[in-house]
Amino acid sequence: MTGATGYVGSAVVDALQRASHQVVALVRHQEKARRLADRGVDAAVGTLGNPNTWRVQASSCDAFVHAAFEPSPKGVEIEQIALETLVDLARRAGERGPAVLVYTSSISVLGPAPEPVDESAPMAPVDLVAWRPAHEHWVLGAGGGLRAAVIRPGIVYGGSRGIVSDMLASAENGLMRIVGSGENHWPLVYDRDLADLYVRVIASDEGHGVFHGTDGADEQVRTIADAIAAHRPHPPDIRCVPLPEARAKMGPYADALALDQRIRSARSLALGWAPSLHSVSGNIPRLFEELRRGRAKREQDQQDS
Ligand SMILES: NC(=O)c1ccc[n+]([C@@H]2O[C@H](COP(=O)([O-])OP(=O)(O)OC[C@H]3O[C@@H](n4cnc5c(N)ncnc54)[C@H](OP(=O)(O)O)[C@@H]3O)[C@@H](O)[C@H]2O)c1
Repeated sequence: MTGATGYVGSAVVDALQRASHQVVALVRHQEKARRLADRGVDAAVGTLGNPNTWRVQASSCDAFVHAAFEPSPKGVEIEQIALETLVDLARRAGERGPAVLVYTSSISVLGPAPEPVDESAPMAPVDLVAWRPAHEHWVLGAGGGLRAAVIRPGIVYGGSRGIVSDMLASAENGLMRIVGSGENHWPLVYDRDLADLYVRVIASDEGHGVFHGTDGADEQVRTIADAIAAHRPHPPDIRCVPLPEARAKMGPYADALALDQRIRSARSLALGWAPSLHSVSGNIPRLFEELRRGRAKREQDQQDS
């Protein structure tokens, strides 16, 4: 696994372990390797862009999950290097027996989807992820004896990381900002539910091709913001930032946040995937509690290291 210490990846590691898989994780720092080892995860210490640091340890695996991304100007190039090695390792594993490669993409590759669409929809990526379709095609066309899958998560919620947690934290600080009017729908997914999808894709013979990971709730951003605000003793201000102003501050990320997407996960549901949470707005107390617990754990980890 790459990205095992990340928001998506750490949930996937937990789910893989619950399903009794043995995990070998690429991590960048010895301290993170030690923490994973405490949880029974073997770690290769290295970086995505230097496959020599992890190739040998990965060579005995039969499932390869890519859930890392380096958010730097070289991030796409680094992903290409890592994918090249992952495809090669997975093909070799496919010559020995059943092997699967799972690539983490993003639902933003679909672009605007004001009417519901599923995995059969064509891609029309926003600029932020314009490079992603090529990586999806590369993985899906890897051939050999391996099973290749692409998971496109919606916006992940739960725990103490990600966009929704940032909204909860902003509400605590008295001011929430949303890009545009907030009438757009966000495709969302609970972190543990998304992680279960990875396990299901890995375990199923039908786990090849594209899978969406969304809870299907079609929540408007404004509904989420209002629900969060309503749970604060002193409701925060909610400021709608016009898209051009947001773009000037955040770059192309603003357009991804402003997307109006109503996404279905038909192929994932057909695998038997059954998300346990169906909305952000219906689970605000739980999400505030998860944020609190996640922060406490981070503080504890910092004290321990
Ligand atoms: N979060 C979402 O809502 C969401 C939604 C859709 C798609 N996705 C996609 O899912 C993937 C993971 O996202 P995330 O939210 O989990 O990101 P994240 O929390 O930032 O995690 C990124 C992971 O990649 C690792 N990493 C970064 N650069 C690396 C490098 N050079 N070598 C080795 N490992 C490296 C990080 O390790 P460190 O712990 O050392 O930093 C971390 O484990 C991304 O492709 C993202 O676009 C995320």
